Amino acid sequence: MQNCVSLVSNDYLNFTQHPKVKQAAIEGIIKYGTGAGASPLIGGHHEYHVELEKKLCEFFNRPDGSNIIFTTGYTANSSTLLAFLKNEDYAIVDMEVHASVYEGLLNTNVKKFPHNSIIHLESALVDVKDKYRTRLVIIDGVYSQNGDIAKMDEIHDLTKKYGEYLMVDDAHGIGVVGENDRGAIELFYLLDKVDIISGTLSKALGHIGGFIVSSPEIINYLRYQSRQHIFSSNSSPASIRLLKVIDLIDEEPIWRHQLAENVQNFKNGLRSLDLNIVTVNQN
Ligand SMILES: Cc1ncc(COP(=O)(O)O)c(C=O)c1O
Repeated sequence: MQNCVSLVSNDYLNFTQHPKVKQAAIEGIIKYGTGAGASPLIGGHHEYHVELEKKLCEFFNRPDGSNIIFTTGYTANSSTLLAFLKNEDYAIVDMEVHASVYEGLLNTNVKKFPHNSIIHLESALVDVKDKYRTRLVIIDGVYSQNGDIAKMDEIHDLTKKYGEYLMVDDAHGIGVVGENDRGAIELFYLLDKVDIISGTLSKALGHIGGFIVSSPEIINYLRYQSRQHIFSSNSSPASIRLLKVIDLIDEEPIWRHQLAENVQNFKNGLRSLDLNIVTVNQN
């Protein structure tokens, strides 16, 4: 077998390998077994799921009841949007959002705007003003394909100027961006202002799963209306390790520093080969 460096992993902080995290997963399995046994609504929503949801509320400084977890980041997006947006609703999306968002929009009306273009977003908002039941603007925090960051302050202000809702998928920002690693939303001081935050537990947090942070009313609606929660089994007890990871994000900033150093070393290496590095908007 040949040793090589992986440049395609989303395990940004290497938490899949942290000894304390591995230990926490083992203890979770010993205490609860290897599976949840049922979908959340039927009886598969256990103590450790409740704890994780509470912990994520604290992480985002939101009241209890503001978080719901999903078994993948993909279904956090798709199942949430499918539960909300129907024929009488309208989604305005940055054209570079993830496939899981597009899947969630299959039953509703969609307008895509060119990536990060404020002018096109405004024109889409003007077009649908006072039409449709709900109008939801959907963007990423950090975009997965080229790593740039949404013009979130401008997008938020514009969305609110027209009285609409904003959803941010911060799958790639949470854990690695912002003063306290709460994600791109934190960079813009919008943690308490974005209507729906979606995130994944599979990238910087190094496991599998996803979540939505929103008002307790919206979260409660999802518990009973998201088809994933009714018809698909919940995450396994190994996900207890996420409680440890969330603590480590605050307790061991060394991993975030290590990531920054790796990025810098990689860029320096490319430059030393006379390769041209395009710098994207990373605020
Ligand atoms: C922006 C974005 N959102 C959501 C997802 C889905 O996350 P998961 O892999 O946890 O299902 C991804 C995965 O690549 C992503 O890049």
